[in-house]
Amino acid sequence: MVLLEVSDLDAGYGDLQILEGVDLDVADGEYVTIVGPNGAGKSTVMKSIFGLTEYMGGSIVFDSREIHGYRPEDIIQTGVGYVPQNDNVFPSLSVMENLEMGAYILDEVPEDRLEDVFDRFPILRERKEQKAGTMSGGQQQMLAMGRALMLEPELLMLDEPSAGLAPDLVDDMFDRIDEINADGTAVLLVEQNAKEALRRCDRGYVLVQGQNRYEESGDELLADEQVRQDFLGG
Ligand SMILES: Nc1ncnc2c1ncn2[C@@H]1O[C@H](COP(=O)(O)OP(=O)(O)O)[C@@H](O)[C@H]1O
Ligand SMILES: [Mg+2]
Repeated sequence: MVLLEVSDLDAGYGDLQILEGVDLDVADGEYVTIVGPNGAGKSTVMKSIFGLTEYMGGSIVFDSREIHGYRPEDIIQTGVGYVPQNDNVFPSLSVMENLEMGAYILDEVPEDRLEDVFDRFPILRERKEQKAGTMSGGQQQMLAMGRALMLEPELLMLDEPSAGLAPDLVDDMFDRIDEINADGTAVLLVEQNAKEALRRCDRGYVLVQGQNRYEESGDELLADEQVRQDFLGG
């Protein structure tokens, strides 16, 4: 079943159009990745799905509802979680407070969800009183994911989760994304680390200058000579 269906989407910032006719879909439980050069509009796709850009045309259907024009807090309610690349934790708040903020739209903090997040990322339980801003980049990234998971999203959008991580932590990050997906959450991932993302995902899109260039399974994209040369460094 299709969970997210973006069709012919035009969007940008102010009067500046960035996305031109972008199509993208994610099925229930699927793991989809978007790769492409810097400035291609990958982050803009995610921001658009989350209601943070200027909508200029097309449609964004999530769980059978047209959500373009919804505010981010309403989009969260429909089951979309989003971890932006930057500024994705509140640095002066503790780990616990950050996680509680993840559930701010609920009347009370769901204790079982909190336990699930702590089980998934034990370091967050150990450090629950620590101020988020004093943790390492990898730990902050886990906190940002944990915060998004507090509402049990059906789709989790992750924008460059491995950016800025020490190389030995990158694999660990990818493993954690695999686990989240294996537990049934659909994942939409944007990654600099394109080869690894394509190895791990079910399906991938190559976005160039705000337009779809390729859409194939991850393995097919990895095997495509042109894609390798143009977008994966040979
Ligand atoms: N807030 C913004 N205002 C104006 N232009 C922006 C803004 N954010 C991004 N852009 C522009 O949109 C284009 C696509 O950016 P982005 O979606 O961040 O690309 P990617 O994530 O693929 O690197 C770039 O030309 C960028 O300069
Ligand atoms: Mg980006």
